Amino acid sequence: MSSSKIFQSYFHKDPTMTSSAHGRLNLIGEHTDYNNGFVLPSLIPQSIEVSIGVREDDDIVGISDKFGALRSKTFSSNNGTWLDFVRGAIYFIQQLSPSMRGIDIAVSSTMPNDSGLSSSAALEIALLRTLARLQGLSISSYEMAKIGQQIEHQFAGTQCGIMDQMVSANGQLGEAFFLDCENLQSKSIPIFLNHSFVVIHCGSKRKLSQSKYNERKNESITASHILNVPSLRHASINHLSQIQDPIIQKRAKHIISENDRVIKASSYLENNDAKSFGELMFLSHHSMRDDYEISSDELNQIVESAQKNDALGARLTGAGFGGCAVILSHNDKIESMKKSILSECPQAYWVTTISRKLNS
Ligand code: GLA
Repeated sequence: MSSSKIFQSYFHKDPTMTSSAHGRLNLIGEHTDYNNGFVLPSLIPQSIEVSIGVREDDDIVGISDKFGALRSKTFSSNNGTWLDFVRGAIYFIQQLSPSMRGIDIAVSSTMPNDSGLSSSAALEIALLRTLARLQGLSISSYEMAKIGQQIEHQFAGTQCGIMDQMVSANGQLGEAFFLDCENLQSKSIPIFLNHSFVVIHCGSKRKLSQSKYNERKNESITASHILNVPSLRHASINHLSQIQDPIIQKRAKHIISENDRVIKASSYLENNDAKSFGELMFLSHHSMRDDYEISSDELNQIVESAQKNDALGARLTGAGFGGCAVILSHNDKIESMKKSILSECPQAYWVTTISRKLNS
């Protein structure tokens, strides 16, 4: 049901504003964003939609099709619910428009949660789009992405990079969004002509993702301090021997090699070379499994099954520790490959397929 329908049936009036934002699939470049490196995500068709109405007090009265009804004050402390994101968005809008007060809000989502497809960035961008319009503010999509990231840092407790919010705010369906996370320069590249990215959920939700995510970020920072570089973006594989701690060395190896893979993969995408792109996806997965240690048995099983069933490439996508895998397949083979993987991995399920738009 649309968020405006939910709003009408819950609040018995029409919403004032409605906006939405898409989730994202990362094709390659994992955990590189907070190391000021490169990423290559794309939008997925699934999205989050938000409808709001103004209130004269400082209350937030919310209803979500996935998480039910909640109520709080705009200035209440974070409590691990979806209203933390709403309070965060209101807080940042209030910095630009102090007349902003409480809201009635309905949220509808077609996205699976805890999948590594960034439903939280989609919620942040949908909220910011709606509240900015409500307050008559013009906030650029780049600024919006940065505010979304701050909501995540200050209100949700994940020290995330900028990838999810940037692609959710700026991406186009059917195109990959190459992003340099150091200077936020970006480039859109159409998806392959005859190949698509198939997204399969491994069946287990992401476990410990927030604490392990922040731990990986700290390990990356430690590595950059040892190498005396501003971020691992500026380190090269030849530097690795300067890191004595084997764990920190492995973490740095993943980031440095992954940055290199994103640059190469982007040019393979531009040249419509799906075979070479796919090989990099497998290498990326192995690096995340063995060096960054963010995979899970279920994700490894999907990647192995994909390889056995003639996929050109496969890897976990997103923060890791559960969630989705992305598989590169020739368009003619998608259905048979999907069928084989889902029968070999009975707990897994298909989420979406990202292809080039027919007219691009
Ligand atoms: C999460 C974060 C992103 C990024 C990915 C891993 O989605 O929000 O910033 O770090 O994990 O690539």
